[in-house]
Amino acid sequence: MPVAPVLILLGPPGAGKGTQARMLEEDFGLIQLSTGDLLRAAVAAGTEAGRKAKAVMEAGQLVSDDIVLAILKDRMAEPDVAKGIILDGFPRTRAQAAALDALLAEAGRKVTAAVSLEVDDAAMVARVAGRFTCATCGEGYHDQFKQPAHAGTCDKCGGTEFKRRADDNAETVSERLKAYHAQTAPLIAHYETKGVLHRVDAMGSIAGIRAALAEVLGRVTA
Ligand code: AP5
Repeated sequence: MPVAPVLILLGPPGAGKGTQARMLEEDFGLIQLSTGDLLRAAVAAGTEAGRKAKAVMEAGQLVSDDIVLAILKDRMAEPDVAKGIILDGFPRTRAQAAALDALLAEAGRKVTAAVSLEVDDAAMVARVAGRFTCATCGEGYHDQFKQPAHAGTCDKCGGTEFKRRADDNAETVSERLKAYHAQTAPLIAHYETKGVLHRVDAMGSIAGIRAALAEVLGRVTA
């Protein structure tokens, strides 16, 4: 039986990690694991981890490795991850990358591919500042680049309530970009050395990037 893939999406805020991860779920039946979503759920639930993470996230800094790893390990213990996973926003530090390798090795798995979504930082503030999501199903939209087909109604679930993230303002996005370049961008070289890195130009259309990612995934799982 083919081994279930473990795909990592690397890229700065606004690169399209979440947008593309949800499409890969639909296209390939994989499971999206977003540490940002898991942390926001912990904040909303008021857990101890969520209380510690809230101010750090609002400042655009990285949450500590121990909190993120505890949340990710819990999620990775659920049975659906056996289908194959897309890691969205994880790993973000060398320590997280090492912990991921150890966790996967325990299950006889390893990283299948790490895709670097390559974008111009200058365009990312507009992408992030225009983002909103369906409050019911989480489908992502953008004021300019991806509006619902019928204004005010989610294309996917018909929901009529939408929300915006507390950290999606120009000042925080600029801090998040700095954190990305200082702590996460070095992982691109790390995965290149391991021979699993793929680079995808992520400045084009959402549909074009979806096709490029499908091509990569098809190639690495063939
Ligand atoms: P997280 O939730 O992971 O946010 P992020 O990495 O900053 O990424 P974004 O969600 O902002 O962007 P995205 O790449 O998913 O873009 P999207 O597809 O939405 O992390 C948030 C915070 O949590 C961090 O700052 C940190 O504090 C903490 N955290 C999370 N994980 C952590 C970890 N592992 N360690 C430590 N701390 C952690 O697209 C953006 C918008 O653009 C959307 O509106 C979309 O419709 C639009 N769009 C997408 N693609 C295109 C395109 N090709 N053309 C035009 N518009 C597009």
